[in-house]
Amino acid sequence: MARIHRLPLHLANQIAAGEVIERPASVVKELIENALDAGAGRISINVELGGKKLIRVDDDGDGMEPKDARLAIERHATSKIGRPEDLAAICTLGFRGEALPSIASVSHFALRTRARGTAAGTEIRVNGGAVSSVQEVGVPEGTCVEVAELFYNLPARRKFLKSDTAESTQISRLVTQMALGYPEVGFSLTSGGRKLVECPPAAGPGERFFQLFGERPDLIEVRKEASGLKVHGYVAALGEQGPVRGAQHVFVNRRIVKDRTIAHAIADAYSVATRAGKGPRASVHTISDAT
Ligand SMILES: Nc1ncnc2c1ncn2[C@@H]1O[C@H](COP(=O)(O)OP(=O)(O)O)[C@@H](O)[C@H]1O
Ligand SMILES: [Mg+2]
Repeated sequence: MARIHRLPLHLANQIAAGEVIERPASVVKELIENALDAGAGRISINVELGGKKLIRVDDDGDGMEPKDARLAIERHATSKIGRPEDLAAICTLGFRGEALPSIASVSHFALRTRARGTAAGTEIRVNGGAVSSVQEVGVPEGTCVEVAELFYNLPARRKFLKSDTAESTQISRLVTQMALGYPEVGFSLTSGGRKLVECPPAAGPGERFFQLFGERPDLIEVRKEASGLKVHGYVAALGEQGPVRGAQHVFVNRRIVKDRTIAHAIADAYSVATRAGKGPRASVHTISDAT
């Protein structure tokens, strides 16, 4: 066997990217989560060719000072945890400090950011993991991340992506879900110049539901609190035919989760009226009450 050596940083980042970043929708997810963690009130997402050509996420969150912006693209650099104890009390969506360096190692990447209340913004450009420029720029408060030509330097990964339409559908689904989980935040998604999602900040889940799906008299609100758990959501009412299978969006502590036990519990609750192969449309928010 050959002698052991340490991997160069850019190679380690590309390997990490394989775990964090599967497709354009995973990039969008990481960037939206960062914007939410930065306290954004509005997040706007622009994609071209299903995100393969371009993904741009703009937020009006806290932004970053120049020094932090430099660190943000380093591996294992995070502002969200500092001590081992913090791991047991995570209240942000991210904490591993891997997303930005991973994304930057497999794309033409630009970060433009200005910390709230400061005068100058910073722009950092990275190509395939190598920083190509750092400069002071005039930008609005908040952060804009641009990811062009995802996987341009990993042709095998790029080939594995689906059609532009299929990738765009996944992004749209993801943005819809994030918007459901964070009604107080404004979301907009534009794909190839077409507005796919447009929801201004809403007063609560009910209003956000209306923005996304329109008037749905067939949906009923559920709300229950028991054993330290709060459940809140909207489910399809039982019609004469029984409910038709629809999308289920489930959130635990505002994180999107896909969980068979919860899906079964929803199906179980409907079992009386549900015919084989059909299931209810549901959006359920489970909020564990830690307070
Ligand atoms: N949109 C943003 N607004 C403000 N700060 C950000 C934004 N995106 C990233 N950052 C900063 O960069 C750091 C690294 O981001 P990331 O690589 O996604 O790791 P993580 O989210 O796990 O900390 C974050 O901890 C945060 O301090
Ligand atoms: Mg993150």
